Amino acid sequence: MTSATDATPSIASPRSPRRPAARRSNFELYSWLFMRLSGLLLVVLVLGHLTIMLFLDDGVQRINFAFVAGRWASPFWQFWDLTMLWLAGLHGANGLRTVIDDYARKDGTRFWLKMLLAASMVLIIGLGTFVLFTFDPNIGS
Ligand code: HEM
Repeated sequence: MTSATDATPSIASPRSPRRPAARRSNFELYSWLFMRLSGLLLVVLVLGHLTIMLFLDDGVQRINFAFVAGRWASPFWQFWDLTMLWLAGLHGANGLRTVIDDYARKDGTRFWLKMLLAASMVLIIGLGTFVLFTFDPNIGS
């Protein structure tokens, strides 16, 4: 049994020292929130996309240049595909950023993997956006 006179044991602080105020930011909080919100929107966008492309009418059999041209004649589907492209790109890249932070052991490896990730994200999102805005349905004529 312990008596009231026992000294309270002292242990070292388990937390890492806090960073100076000037370097604190809410970036990781917003990035965490973005993953949840973009995930929710992606459920609707991706499941809608798959339903239209794979299940309705003849499904994948009917997809050709004319089908894509027909869909992209509508600003609604252009906006749908643009949003899906940007959200999937940013969500996927931000998720991989977390994976790199978790698993890359050396500073150099982490840095170069993130550079590669950023470059591929800019390329894929940039190229996709470019195609969406410059698509010419009369390319053959
Ligand atoms: C269909 C709708 C989707 C939902 C609901 C969803 C949801 C989520 C959520 C909530 C997280 C955070 C997990 C965590 O922090 O523990 C996450 C992480 C991630 N997501 Fe998605 N996501 C979806 C689509 C996608 C797509 C299309 C991609 C790829 C382009 C993707 C790639 C990733 C990656 C790489 C991670 C990081 C995994 C990790 O931290 O271990 N997700 N997703």
